[in-house]
Amino acid sequence: MTSGTGLVIRKERKKDFRVVENLIREAFWNRYIPGCSEHLVLHKLRKHADFIPELDLVAEKDGRITGQIVFSRAVIRDDRGEEKEVISFGPVSVLPEFQKLGIGSALIKHAIGLARDMGFAAVCIYGDPRYYSRFGFRCAEKYDIRTSDGKFAAALLALELRPGALKDTPGRFMESSAFAINESELLKFDTRFPPKEKAETESQREFMTLVSLRY
Ligand SMILES: CC(C)(COP(=O)(O)OP(=O)(O)OC[C@H]1O[C@@H](n2cnc3c(N)ncnc32)[C@H](O)[C@@H]1OP(=O)(O)O)[C@@H](O)C(=O)NCCC(=O)NCCS
Repeated sequence: MTSGTGLVIRKERKKDFRVVENLIREAFWNRYIPGCSEHLVLHKLRKHADFIPELDLVAEKDGRITGQIVFSRAVIRDDRGEEKEVISFGPVSVLPEFQKLGIGSALIKHAIGLARDMGFAAVCIYGDPRYYSRFGFRCAEKYDIRTSDGKFAAALLALELRPGALKDTPGRFMESSAFAINESELLKFDTRFPPKEKAETESQREFMTLVSLRY
């Protein structure tokens, strides 16, 4: 897809892998934790059964990859162990010098449209409601959807792609196992990238406040 602003949104290709992982690392570095793990999440996800290749997209501006988004399969599991398939996205990121220009919104809107056309029922994510509400996401509590450990959470958000898709499907949101990262694999993987300083930041404190809102 090409928009009026010269932004091209297309599928990620094998030759983009390295550039995209570095982009993610630049965007996430020190944002939520000292350092970040999201570049390794995509690296693992591409080989995982929950990966959705049609929804692994990059945004290109003047031939340069400036943003990315990827979706994966997930489920809502009810108390009897029955599962409803949903999808989730993340990482989603834009190179710091290209943020606040609408690239993230363009990627999210385009990908959600594709996901709807592909017939997926609903999207669940962990994210900041102040950002994602503009795409129609609502607190998952509205649909009686809890975290994997059975709590409601302010950062757990849901969007129906088909009206009514989340009606009467209470349960726990179980994201892909591709998101489980261990510290030693992350440290090893990170040595493939240019050195960066880890630091504690205000955005990490804000994030901890948001994710601790569980009830
Ligand atoms: C989140 C991200 C992908 C948005 O991309 P973007 O191209 O900057 O977004 P857009 O230009 O479409 O929208 C910018 C708006 O979103 C807001 N926004 C972005 N991230 C936000 C957040 N976490 N919480 C609240 N608002 C946020 C900006 O303040 C701006 O608001 P405005 O429209 O009122 O000025 C980008 O900021 C990014 O890469 N962040 C680091 C990685 C990250 O946090 N990813 C999301 C993890 S859930």
